[in-house]
Amino acid sequence: MPHSLYNKMVLIEEYVSLKKYHTFGIDVAARYFCEIKSLEALYSLLNLLKTDHHYQHLPVFILGAGSNVLFTEDFKGIVIQIGLKGIRIIDETKETITVEAAAGENWHQLVLWSLEQGYGGIENLSLIPGSVGAAPVQNIGAYGVEFSDCFLQLTAISLKTGGKAIFSKKDCEFGYRHSIFKTALKNQYIICDVHIQLSKNPKVNTHYPALRQYLAEQSVTQPTIHDISNAVISIRQKKLPDPAILGNAGSFFKNPELVLSEFTQLQQRASHVVHFPVDNNTVKVAAAWLIEHCGWRGKRIGDVGVHTEQSLVLVNYGQGTGQAIKALASDIQTSVFEKFGIRLTPEVCIL
Ligand code: EPU
Repeated sequence: MPHSLYNKMVLIEEYVSLKKYHTFGIDVAARYFCEIKSLEALYSLLNLLKTDHHYQHLPVFILGAGSNVLFTEDFKGIVIQIGLKGIRIIDETKETITVEAAAGENWHQLVLWSLEQGYGGIENLSLIPGSVGAAPVQNIGAYGVEFSDCFLQLTAISLKTGGKAIFSKKDCEFGYRHSIFKTALKNQYIICDVHIQLSKNPKVNTHYPALRQYLAEQSVTQPTIHDISNAVISIRQKKLPDPAILGNAGSFFKNPELVLSEFTQLQQRASHVVHFPVDNNTVKVAAAWLIEHCGWRGKRIGDVGVHTEQSLVLVNYGQGTGQAIKALASDIQTSVFEKFGIRLTPEVCIL
C-alpha cells in the first residue's frame, strides 16, 4: 500500500512510479522517492538517510530530469529528485558574465534565459533535454560546443558526510560525455548549482557541418546567437524524437574514438564511414552510421526500436520495457562488433 512519510522538511513517498520522471517513459517504481526543493530539505534528508534504520544502507539514485537513464527494473532504494531552482548573475566584467544556476533548473530554459539577455556561449546547446545539475555529469555537448567550454565551478554535497565541496573545472575531469561524477565519484555527490561564464560580445560557433549547412540553406551569412539557437532547434526537432511523444534518451551510445591505426583498419571494412578528427592521432566515428549500416535504422521489435531519423536513438513506442531496450542495445552492439570490429559503449546510464 503506497503511503508517505513526512519527516521534518522532507516528504518520502513509497512505491512511486517513475514513468513521468524519466524520458524513456518506462513504468518502473522506486521503493522510496523524495523530491528536494531546498538545501535545508536536502540536509534534513541526508541526516535521515544516515540515522534512520529504514533508509540506512539503501542504494541512492540522484535523478535530474531523467533524460539519460534507462530503468530496467524497479529501483529498490531511494530516488532523490533534485528540484532546486534559481538563476542569478553573480559576477560581471566588461566582456563576460558569471551565472549561477541551480541544479533543478531546466537546461533549455537556462539557454533561453541567456539568449533573452543577449549572452552567448550555450546557444549551440539549445533544446538538450535535462536539468542543469545533470549537464556537468555527462558533460552535455552538441553542434560543436560542450558544457565544459563555459563551466567555471560547481557546488556539491557529499552523500556520505553531508559536507559541501566546490569542484573546479580541473576537479571535474571533463571529457567527451564524461566527468568524474560518472566514474570515481559516481553517486557520491549531489550537485546543487553550477557557475558558468557567458559572453557579452559572443562569437558564434558554426564549425559543426550540419549547422553550417543549415545556415547556408537559410541564407544566413552573419548568424547571431539567436540564429544559431533557432538552427539547432530546427535540426534537433527534425532528427531527434520529442520524449513527450516518443520515449527516448537521446543518443544511446557514444561515438567511438579510435586511434589512427584502429581507424585505418575500420576503413578497410567501411571505406565511407562518417568520421571527424579529434586530434592528430584520434578520430571520432559516427556510431549512427555504423548502426545504420548494420540495417538497424527504423527497425521495430515489439514496442521498442531504433529511431527512423537517427539510428543512435533507441525509442519506446509506449509499452516497451527497460529489459527490451537493453536487449535491443545488446543486439546492436553485437552486430556492429561482428561487422566492423567496433565496440559501442552506452552513453545512457542503465539501472
Ligand atoms: N548518420 C548516419 N545515420 C543516422 C544518423 C546520422 O549515418 O541515422 C551520420 C550522418 O552522416 C551525420 C553523422 O552520422 O553526419 C553525425 O550525426 P549527427 O550530426 O546527428 O550527430 P551524432 O554524432 O549522431 C552527436 C551527439 C548528439 C548531438 C549531435 C550534434 C553523441 C553520442 N551524440 O550525435 O547528442 O546532438 O552529435 O552535435 O555524441 C545526446 O548526447 O543524447 C545527443 C543527442
